[in-house]
Amino acid sequence: MSESRFLELAAARRSIRKYKTTPVQREKLELCLEAARLAPSACNAQPYRFIVIDEPILKDKFCAAAFSGVYSACKFAAAAPVLVAVVSDTGKLTAWLGNQVQDTNFRLMDIGIAAEHFVLAAAEQGLGTCWLGWFSAKAAAKALGLGSGKKIEILLAAGYPEEAPAPRKRKTMEEFRSFNSI
Ligand SMILES: Cc1cc2nc3c(=O)[nH]c(=O)nc-3n(C[C@H](O)[C@H](O)[C@H](O)COP(=O)(O)O)c2cc1C
Repeated sequence: MSESRFLELAAARRSIRKYKTTPVQREKLELCLEAARLAPSACNAQPYRFIVIDEPILKDKFCAAAFSGVYSACKFAAAAPVLVAVVSDTGKLTAWLGNQVQDTNFRLMDIGIAAEHFVLAAAEQGLGTCWLGWFSAKAAAKALGLGSGKKIEILLAAGYPEEAPAPRKRKTMEEFRSFNSI
């Protein structure tokens, strides 16, 4: 396969579940946020807002709410110096209509693309991240004081890695793709 810096970055990224206590510089976070902001979205609706939580008292309160009870499997994220809550917006009518007609959740696709832009930019900056889908969305929204109708769709933990996990198994290329056939 041809040499590609992007491929190297994509291959080096890991989900990180142990973090150093070292704070993350705001400039690095701003760069990751800029990468997320530039992401494409259906009808250019950009149906999201990224809320960065790096103030320790708020972060503790947020984590206590988000990762309690059945969600405690993700408690490791409380040790990350930064959490990012990706909140969905209603977006544009055209994107909503597309959703209805095609039965495809463009809003979640858009959020996924923007969040992964953040994650890959973080990896380039030497930061570790972990996507977190297993958390109490209701309790987390309440801890942030989000208004009704606003939902945290996904969380990202971020910080300097304190571990170097081995790569997780992926489908082989044969299992993954085909050209001009099913
Ligand atoms: C949408 C999404 C949700 C995820 N939710 C969680 C989660 O709640 N807790 C967790 O520890 N990892 C979570 N992960 C991380 C995956 O487990 C991880 O990406 C996968 O095992 C592959 O490992 P890698 O990221 O190190 O390549 C999530 C990943 C994605 C993309």
